[in-house]
Amino acid sequence: MLINSLKLISFRNFKTAQLEFPDGINVFSGENGSGKTNLLEAIFVLLLGRSQRGAPDKLLLREGDEYYRIEALLTADNKKYSAAIAYQIGGRKRIQIEKVTSKTSELFERHSVVSSAPEDIAILSGSPSYRRDFINLYLSQASPRYIADLTDYQKALTQKNAYFKQENNSADTPYDDLLAEYGASVMLARYNFLEAIKITAASAYKKISKGMDFITTYNPSVVLPDSEISLENIKRNFSDKLKRYAQRERIVQIALVGPHRDEIDFSIGEFPARAYGSQGELRTATVALKMGVFEYLKSIRNDMPILLLDEIFAELDESRKELLVETFGQFGQVFLTSASGLPESLSDNSKRFEIEGGKIINE
Ligand SMILES: Nc1ncnc2c1ncn2[C@@H]1O[C@H](COP(=O)(O)OP(=O)(O)OP(=O)(O)O)[C@@H](O)[C@H]1O
Ligand SMILES: [Mg+2]
Repeated sequence: MLINSLKLISFRNFKTAQLEFPDGINVFSGENGSGKTNLLEAIFVLLLGRSQRGAPDKLLLREGDEYYRIEALLTADNKKYSAAIAYQIGGRKRIQIEKVTSKTSELFERHSVVSSAPEDIAILSGSPSYRRDFINLYLSQASPRYIADLTDYQKALTQKNAYFKQENNSADTPYDDLLAEYGASVMLARYNFLEAIKITAASAYKKISKGMDFITTYNPSVVLPDSEISLENIKRNFSDKLKRYAQRERIVQIALVGPHRDEIDFSIGEFPARAYGSQGELRTATVALKMGVFEYLKSIRNDMPILLLDEIFAELDESRKELLVETFGQFGQVFLTSASGLPESLSDNSKRFEIEGGKIINE
């Protein structure tokens, strides 16, 4: 897919902006605080209806203004269409595709976007919830079924936790069958997702680092079956563990078993990334991981996702920068930011936008 043009009204520090994008590499450059990351965020919000930074709409709205609006012309399957997102103080966000009011689910059906930003280092070094959020964001773009299963799982989980808080509850919670049912689907999807991305991520890491290993391992709350990793077998393990933990859960009054407790282990070279990775290694690994996601979404959706790369060259040595640039040829439309210079090889074949104080001053 392709974003042909973007128009912003009162989004973050942009009063108004109008940008035309070619296919290939688009670069936003400018000083710190000029609005480069805000532009990537506007693209993400337009495509999926939410901020990749998890920011609420009132923060996206330009300080002092009443409403924001993002509009774009896009191309998918050789067809052009318009999309718009608008939010007004006190109101709800409105999505329009071809001027018809639409739901977020339609955005997820039509669009896919892979984003890499400095704060993504938390996927490797932060708490487990960052890793689960990472899986959820990208699996949701691959499978509407995953969104449904995860939503049903979370609903049952909330009910189970509320049940523990009630007095005089009986021995078995009535929610464990539902948790095992939806939870097993969530786990199987996560397993398949990580199996698919870990190979590309490892080969990207190896290339950029000139030979180092980057290993991704799914470490779910319920141990995966030894034999065939099927829905039925996962569900059986899940139910068994729920039974073993029933007593403990009742004492601590919280659900201890299931994908809400899943982990992913990453290692770089021989060591766990979380405890041992250097800044540059962790940065490289987050980018490599996103390359794995890119290839996965591309194959599932049969189309290239939009790629948003925020300051991906920071903290990388010259060799890693150049090797990273070499991988760019494989991508479709790319948007990247840089506050400092870019690797030389990028300068020739990209369109540059100079940003200053919430304005595009030069194209
Ligand atoms: N809702 C808002 N209204 C007005 N200004 C905002 C709003 N939200 C953020 N800003 C301002 O936008 C500015 C630019 O932010 P942005 O993160 O895009 O900068 P950047 O160009 O990516 O900088 P850096 O190089 O440091 O990453 C910040 O100075 C911030 O204060
Ligand atoms: Mg920035």
